[in-house]
Amino acid sequence: MSPHELRPSYPITTERLRLRPLTPADAEALLAYRSRPDVCRYVPFEPMTPEVIADRLATYWAATALTDEGQSLTLGVEVAQTGRLAGDVTLFWHSRQHRGGEIGYVMNPGFAGQGYATEAARAMLRLGFETLGLHRIIGRIDERNEPSARVLRRLGMRQEARLVHNELFKGEWSTEVCFAMLSEEWQAQGSSPSVPG
Ligand SMILES: CC(C)(COP(=O)(O)OP(=O)(O)OC[C@H]1O[C@@H](n2cnc3c(N)ncnc32)[C@H](O)[C@@H]1OP(=O)(O)O)[C@@H](O)C(=O)NCCC(=O)NCCS
Repeated sequence: MSPHELRPSYPITTERLRLRPLTPADAEALLAYRSRPDVCRYVPFEPMTPEVIADRLATYWAATALTDEGQSLTLGVEVAQTGRLAGDVTLFWHSRQHRGGEIGYVMNPGFAGQGYATEAARAMLRLGFETLGLHRIIGRIDERNEPSARVLRRLGMRQEARLVHNELFKGEWSTEVCFAMLSEEWQAQGSSPSVPG
């Protein structure tokens, strides 16, 4: 299967969550966690101001589909029972030729420790592999970001590389750990992944 584009119907529902495009009505909820230095410690952006949030909502986060490589789709992660925004999750489409993508996620610490990030990221893997037809999806993290490594392992992603002091990140050398999953590994995992959550 070769990738064409991804135009999901929203909301995308999982067991406990609804994934849907972000809107200006989410600005306050996004600011509540994306402005926090602890949340931003290992992500490639600084704590966000209301202006930056508004700019992202009007540009990158306004995307509702992936129509070509180089694009990203960021969706809000809403708790189905309450309708509250628990975080956001992103699928990047890196290469049409190599059918490669990447996932990322940022959650409000008030919603941590319940498996929501894993559940939302799994839905993005499903979109990437089953709808967009990707062959390989990666996750890249700072080695010190252990909660994120646990998310990727729970998803069944394999650690492939450890790049020692690979990037000068926020003023210090960061050791990058790369995880990956292939479409055949996703299929082999089936609807009942070996690692729960
Ligand atoms: C990375 C991040 C999303 C992880 O959040 P998290 O709350 O640990 O992840 P999940 O929502 O998947 O929750 C998993 C935890 O909930 C627990 N849990 C409780 N109930 C659960 C359930 N029903 N299903 C699955 N897990 C459950 C798991 O045991 C796990 O705990 P553990 O990691 O201590 O073993 C969060 O720390 C974050 O947003 N960090 C800042 C941004 C960031 O660094 N993003 C990644 C950039 S690479």
